[in-house]
Amino acid sequence: MRPSHPPLPTPSFAGQDILSVSQFDRTKLDYIFGVAHEMRVLVERFGGADLLQGKILANLFYEPSTRTSSSFMAAMMRLGGQVIPINNVQYSSVSKGESLPDTIRTLESYADVIVLRHPEVGAAATAARYAAKPVINAGDGVGEHPTQALLDLFTIVEELGQADGLTITMVGDLKYGRTVHSLTKLLVNYNVTFRFVSPEILRMPDDVLDVVRGTGHTYDEVESLPDAIAASDVLYVTRIQRERFTDLAVYDRVKDLYVVDEELLTQAKEQMIVMHPLPRVGEISYGVDDDPRAAYFRQMRNGMYIRMALLASVLGRA
Ligand code: NCD
Repeated sequence: MRPSHPPLPTPSFAGQDILSVSQFDRTKLDYIFGVAHEMRVLVERFGGADLLQGKILANLFYEPSTRTSSSFMAAMMRLGGQVIPINNVQYSSVSKGESLPDTIRTLESYADVIVLRHPEVGAAATAARYAAKPVINAGDGVGEHPTQALLDLFTIVEELGQADGLTITMVGDLKYGRTVHSLTKLLVNYNVTFRFVSPEILRMPDDVLDVVRGTGHTYDEVESLPDAIAASDVLYVTRIQRERFTDLAVYDRVKDLYVVDEELLTQAKEQMIVMHPLPRVGEISYGVDDDPRAAYFRQMRNGMYIRMALLASVLGRA
């Protein structure tokens, strides 16, 4: 018997850049999460596979990074590929004044894919205009961090079964935190309720709130974390982004406003998960680490699986 509908084509990311979460709809998300899940199984059983043998990644970081940079490297290496790591741009020709386009043209003549972290909003999009090879945005200033949002959403789905129906509370630096910008824009693909907890001066930017409103989602904005916690299914904690403040006196006023500790968690649901993109600098106390609801270390590991899935996809091997 013929099926009444032709099968949906598998989304293909081969040759594509990954610049923004707006590139993803639910079909594409399901696909990437399916591949990431397979990558987890591969790593747990065999340590990896040789899908990307003969491929080279240029890992170009103009801003500090531990997890994003090393998980992209580990992802490439676990798939049999190799990496050119450039995370000390002061030792590269960037310190001689070389422009981003020239640096990108150089790296793409050696590598098959470029991962870029840069302090300017839109830098990854600029790089992608000059590169014929895929460019993956690993954070462009206060703009976006799409691969982090993918691993965050993957974590929510893996931990809680699905995103639909959840109340997602984001707390901390919602103004400068690029991870919450991208995650919010990705979560509007689901039926979720948002709670944004921040001081007035670190509120979620209007362009992100416009997306939330424009897709018919409800949200509230509050300053008190204890008031927001009881109804939350996900508590997404962020670091106050010291490096983005022009006036450090203002940073000092807000830096210790929110601390998630064991006491606060007594008011939370038993199934709630605590997430954080890391690094943390005091906003989650170490005593929380042993609570089964602390998902941030599992979240961090998921980053490698998502980045394995993305690299295999853009290089046409998944
Ligand atoms: C985040 C970032 O760089 O935006 N870290 C990360 O990529 N895991 C969050 C942060 O620096 O606070």
